[in-house]
Amino acid sequence: MAHLLRLDSSARPDGSVSRAITGAFADAWSSVAGTSVTWRNLHNDSVPHLPHADLHCAPPLRPTGATISHRVEEFQLELVGELIGADVLLVGAPLYNYTLPSTLKAWLDHVHVLGMTAPFLELDTQPLAGRPAIVVSARGATYDDDAGPADHARPVLDAVLGGAMGMELTYIGADATLADLVPAMAPLKERAESERAAALATAAELGERLAREAVAAEGAAARGDGTS
Ligand SMILES: Cc1cc2nc3c(=O)[nH]c(=O)nc-3n(C[C@H](O)[C@H](O)[C@H](O)COP(=O)(O)O)c2cc1C
Repeated sequence: MAHLLRLDSSARPDGSVSRAITGAFADAWSSVAGTSVTWRNLHNDSVPHLPHADLHCAPPLRPTGATISHRVEEFQLELVGELIGADVLLVGAPLYNYTLPSTLKAWLDHVHVLGMTAPFLELDTQPLAGRPAIVVSARGATYDDDAGPADHARPVLDAVLGGAMGMELTYIGADATLADLVPAMAPLKERAESERAAALATAAELGERLAREAVAAEGAAARGDGTS
């Protein structure tokens, strides 16, 4: 099976823009035969804060005498296993206080492990290198003006998923999502609607295309002929 790991982190029970877009991607992925999906809603079913700093390193890199409970380590390995087992990662990342929702950050803290998912010293391992990661950003305001406040979520995702883990990032985004709610943003309503519609269409197209590619790659690997 070609496998998708879908993460959502919006705190909105209804009307989430990021979740609508990840949903369009996941529906398109699932429409292709031979695919499967693991879906984690990190807001409803949150990952705890990283319980011990030593979990940032693979066991051989940990200081001697480090004591980490078996249960905590098993949970981290479950999250890492879910990520490594996915052909494509899909991340819903609303912008909260100019950065990632804390629920998504807690997941990232668990899966960015030196010497396990990212190379470090003698443990030159990068099992996710080249794997697609689709990040769906939804931002209440607009970020066209370099002089205004910055989006600090993207640099973190670029550095961790892209730089450290070597994944190939694609961003799909919709801005000005608060235009419907904030009277002063009314002039941005049309832009918000068109960005959202474009993002939904892009997500559906990309979801189906990446699913077909992943299924074809699996078929080729099973035949051992390198063709699809
Ligand atoms: C706690 C919180 C903090 C937010 N901070 C920002 C922010 O810093 N910049 C911004 O443009 N929008 C901010 N927003 C608005 C959200 O980015 C916007 O509503 C977006 O659509 C959220 O994604 P969702 O629709 O998937 O829930 C914030 C919203 C919440 C709930």
